[in-house]
Amino acid sequence: MKISVAKKELSSCKAHCLAIVIRQAETSDEVAQLPAELQDYLTAAWQAGDFNGKAGQTLLVYAPKLACQRLLFVGLGPEAGRDEVRQAGGTIAKAVAGLKVSQLAIGWQEEILPGLDMGECLAEGVFLGAYTFTKYKAAPEKERVELKKITLYPAGENSSCRKGVRLAQVAARAANLARDMANEPGNRWTPEEFALAGRSLGQKGLTCKVLTKRELQRLKMGGILGVNQGSSEPPCLVVLEYNCGAAKADTLLLVGKGLTFDAGGISLKPAAGMEDMKYDMCGGAAVMAAMTAVAEEQPKGVNVVALVPATENLPSSSALKPGDVITAYNGTTIEVINTDAEGRLILADALAYGIEKFKPTAVIDLATLTGAVIVGLGHHRCGLLSNDDELAQKVAAAGEQSGEPCWRLPLGKEYSKQLESQVADLKNIGGKAAGTITAAAFLQEFVGATPWVHLDIAGTAWGFTEKSYVPAKGPSGFGARLLVELIRGWR
Ligand code: BES
Ligand code: MN
Ligand code: ZN
Repeated sequence: MKISVAKKELSSCKAHCLAIVIRQAETSDEVAQLPAELQDYLTAAWQAGDFNGKAGQTLLVYAPKLACQRLLFVGLGPEAGRDEVRQAGGTIAKAVAGLKVSQLAIGWQEEILPGLDMGECLAEGVFLGAYTFTKYKAAPEKERVELKKITLYPAGENSSCRKGVRLAQVAARAANLARDMANEPGNRWTPEEFALAGRSLGQKGLTCKVLTKRELQRLKMGGILGVNQGSSEPPCLVVLEYNCGAAKADTLLLVGKGLTFDAGGISLKPAAGMEDMKYDMCGGAAVMAAMTAVAEEQPKGVNVVALVPATENLPSSSALKPGDVITAYNGTTIEVINTDAEGRLILADALAYGIEKFKPTAVIDLATLTGAVIVGLGHHRCGLLSNDDELAQKVAAAGEQSGEPCWRLPLGKEYSKQLESQVADLKNIGGKAAGTITAAAFLQEFVGATPWVHLDIAGTAWGFTEKSYVPAKGPSGFGARLLVELIRGWR
């Protein structure tokens, strides 16, 4: 899909469809702002009260007298912010998806957002909204016409809009890549696939090292190895490094849970809905995808290291058993009460190892860690837990800016106490109460004093809040765009 910003007038547009974004209004002023030759197509609908620019509204008309075949009016709502514009972009993508439209133009007549934001959010909405995953379907291409060329006709000057479009392209490509990884079934997307994806990034300006099962054994990563015991697929820990070259730059460490299928282990999950547990690698996918954006944009002032611990969690005669005691990378002993609380075990090793080896300024982990976060926050925000107010604030701001919002939950010694074990340093579950917080309190034991944010994306990685640019079913790519935004704005 190619996207560009037009230098010419809207009236010269020859696309298969021209979408016009229109703000909601009481009067027909919005119609009057349109170029004269387009007004006729909207006036009647506006006067009939069928279209007034309400968010999500669309009106498709055929315009035989114009150079473009179709006109699509798209409502923005009364007060459009970044996400409303993104959603308008998604609405446009959805509206043309069933039509024979491969060349799309999008125009607007007044300053709705600053030029950069408008270009960025609109383009992002279209890219994300046009996403499909049809790899395992028989020849779906036959009927579907793909969007090939998109041209924006900004109301204001072009150059800031063009900058926005470039940002959108990188971020949306990352998010769609995370969706692609997650859409792969568990028998296709095994830990080995994370290794392959990492290695291919190693060809694009990042340093990639994959720690194999043998190396994990040598390093005594008892968390990853313990969870892997029940699986015949070997585990791995993918390490990706981006070095910005500046002498005194901060280092940001990203850690993503790469659990390629979570059956629960001996503490087996119920059968209903278990297929969704192929998505238990969405944290790893988001981190990996964000690194593709880092490789493309080569940020100036910050080093970024990404770690993806990857394994399956399956029951077998060699699997971990409830009551087993394992030793994490940093020497902490863990009594495994419930083998289904496995994410924290693999993250424990990755966090401790990453912090020891790379001495990062800040650490952010993303994980589909607890069902409890869905009880607490639903599918509209991810859980954010942190030992550092400033970092928590930064990450939350990147979440708002990118349309991947977070909500902070507390930590504290009362919660950590729930993890006291009779026989080991820690147990891996803290009881029924405050499941998301005790999971984070467990991770906190492995980060020491390093500023750290944990994002529990179990509610948002799939089935994310209803929006035109988010798939109604399947993975959202949540976290990839948040990370890209955070890295762009670092310092
Ligand atoms: N991957 C799951 C968390 C999950 C559950 C994500 C539902 C999305 C939807 C995680 O490994 C898990 O099983 N967590 C347990 C923890 C419990 C045993 C303390 C959970 O949330 O039930
Ligand atoms: Mn589990
Ligand atoms: Zn899991």
